[in-house]
Amino acid sequence: MDVIKKLNWGIIGAGIIAGKMAEALKIDPGSLLYAAASKDISKARAFADANNVGYAFSYDEIVNCEEIDIIYVATTHNFHFENAKLALENGKHVLIEKPFTVNAEEARELTNIAKENNLFLMEAVWTRFLPSIKLLKKKIEDDVIGEVKQINISFGGFVVPQYERRLKDPALAGGVTLDMGIYPISFVCYLLGERPADIKSMTHFSDSGVDEISNYLFRFPSGCFASISTSFHLKMNNSATLYGQNGFIEFPQFQVGERFTINLHKGTNNIVESREVFEKNHDNGFIYQVEEVINCIYEGKLESDIIPLKETNSIMEVMDKMRNEWGFVYPFE
Ligand SMILES: NC(=O)c1ccc[n+]([C@@H]2O[C@H](COP(=O)([O-])OP(=O)(O)OC[C@H]3O[C@@H](n4cnc5c(N)ncnc54)[C@H](OP(=O)(O)O)[C@@H]3O)[C@@H](O)[C@H]2O)c1
Repeated sequence: MDVIKKLNWGIIGAGIIAGKMAEALKIDPGSLLYAAASKDISKARAFADANNVGYAFSYDEIVNCEEIDIIYVATTHNFHFENAKLALENGKHVLIEKPFTVNAEEARELTNIAKENNLFLMEAVWTRFLPSIKLLKKKIEDDVIGEVKQINISFGGFVVPQYERRLKDPALAGGVTLDMGIYPISFVCYLLGERPADIKSMTHFSDSGVDEISNYLFRFPSGCFASISTSFHLKMNNSATLYGQNGFIEFPQFQVGERFTINLHKGTNNIVESREVFEKNHDNGFIYQVEEVINCIYEGKLESDIIPLKETNSIMEVMDKMRNEWGFVYPFE
């Protein structure tokens, strides 16, 4: 019987989200979490002990470890570029937590390094791979509500103190757009299969000088509009509504919901049919993006068809453009 080698993972950044990834890698039969690295070796050791990981390394040790195939970058946004670059330049495939980088210039450079070195690279927008989101996309593609004309999304809440520190800090490239806005932006681009042609946006800054309540209005080449409100300091409805010519879909619990409702009016002002759809997601939704990475690497693919690098780069450009409209530059840019 053929024994398929597991993919050996290394994590850079022994923080909160790294713990959730460690759980997902334990569940995935094709993965082994080989080592964890931190700037602080005692933190790496504590993470390795807590998550049953074999090795605790420095960044240099982890990228030079021959047994490791892929590095998951789980540091704060300001470090994504340098950590991913270090891993790619040492021959590792890379999965980077969202947002891919702080700006489009960094994104382009990483994309080029990965291509030049024939290495896999992907942004970990895990929600794209959830079964419920895939089903929602299929309903749109199957024209269940006809051509989509408008999407409205609210996505916000008061974040817990452990996240607030990072989110409010300009030095860590905090702010709601890079941290949370990226999800609804990525969601509308994924569902429509296109990038915004026209972009208008406004924001309110926090006392610490990062964007705290942000609003985006996009017009896509198809003519569809998307209106997005997001905040890390305001409880919102957390829902998406997609309006098509023949009906609309209500997607509550944005963005991890398992239920959504398809309402059909068939071009009238009356709902003639209303149907709830249910699709279960695993409790640790990270497992689907892990499966995607494994499949791509074993198939010799250097990027995912579900979140191609061209799209990641375009979305970074959208966020650059909006930050530019607000005059919002990070201190290290
Ligand atoms: N997919 C999701 O659902 C989700 C949820 C939350 C966050 N995220 C993303 O995951 C990434 C990490 O977020 P997190 O909440 O896990 O962050 P975190 O625990 O606050 O920090 C992660 C790591 O970043 C480094 N770091 C944090 N604060 C630092 C500071 N002040 N100075 C220097 N280094 C610092 C540390 O790396 P070392 O250990 O190497 O020192 C730390 O272990 C971000 O990109 C975030 O957007 C994703």
